[in-house]
Amino acid sequence: MTRSSEGLSPELHSYIVAHSEPVDPVLADLAEETARLFPDHKGMQIGPEQGAFTTLLTQLSGARSVVEIGTFTGYSSICFARGLPEDGTLLALDISEEWTSVARRYWERAGLSDKIDLRIGPALDSLRALPDDTRFDLAFLDADKTGYVDYWEELVPRIRPGGLLLADNTLSHGRVIDPEQTAPSVRGIRDFNARVTSDDRVTQVLLPIGDGLTLARKH
Ligand SMILES: C[S@@+](CC[C@H](N)C(=O)[O-])C[C@H]1O[C@@H](n2cnc3c(N)ncnc32)[C@H](O)[C@@H]1O
Repeated sequence: MTRSSEGLSPELHSYIVAHSEPVDPVLADLAEETARLFPDHKGMQIGPEQGAFTTLLTQLSGARSVVEIGTFTGYSSICFARGLPEDGTLLALDISEEWTSVARRYWERAGLSDKIDLRIGPALDSLRALPDDTRFDLAFLDADKTGYVDYWEELVPRIRPGGLLLADNTLSHGRVIDPEQTAPSVRGIRDFNARVTSDDRVTQVLLPIGDGLTLARKH
């Protein structure tokens, strides 16, 4: 299973995946089971090359504490958790018991359950309920697109100086540049991209990987 990257031919996307870190049996089985159980939602998973990138980025940054907004069946959480050191932790936030029950099984199989703390509920509430002094080295936004700006405002103060924020789907399948596209999710992403661009607390780049992956470093 490969989810194509925005603007790339399927052939070129396959070439990119074939020349990135290979997908291991745990992630391959998770992608296959997700497609079987939830065929209408399988496209929500990050792509294999994004997975390889996020593991590498977690390792390169030396992140020890990661927060993920939007876990689904667990693909991205496994990629982040695999990049963490032995004592690293991932806080996973989602509203779906059903989808994250699949994630729990695959965390167990990947030997990552001890690293991952899953909280079920609206992610904004879960973030706001954290102790004031909770800090993260890396945050990943991949839940409801209309919530991205609010997640950003909650997360930036909680990221340590030098820490990273990553946000998926920031090209909204190309709809961001089409003025006729006015769906709330597209407007949410446009608002988010504008907010990140104007935020002088971070340095950012919008990478054309998958459906657009914004990477920002907090000063
Ligand atoms: C695009 S999927 C996440 C995909 C996941 N990162 C992966 O790679 O497999 C979005 C997820 O956000 C969750 N979600 C949507 N609205 C939410 C909210 N308000 N709070 C928390 N999670 C939410 C959905 O239940 C869904 O699992």
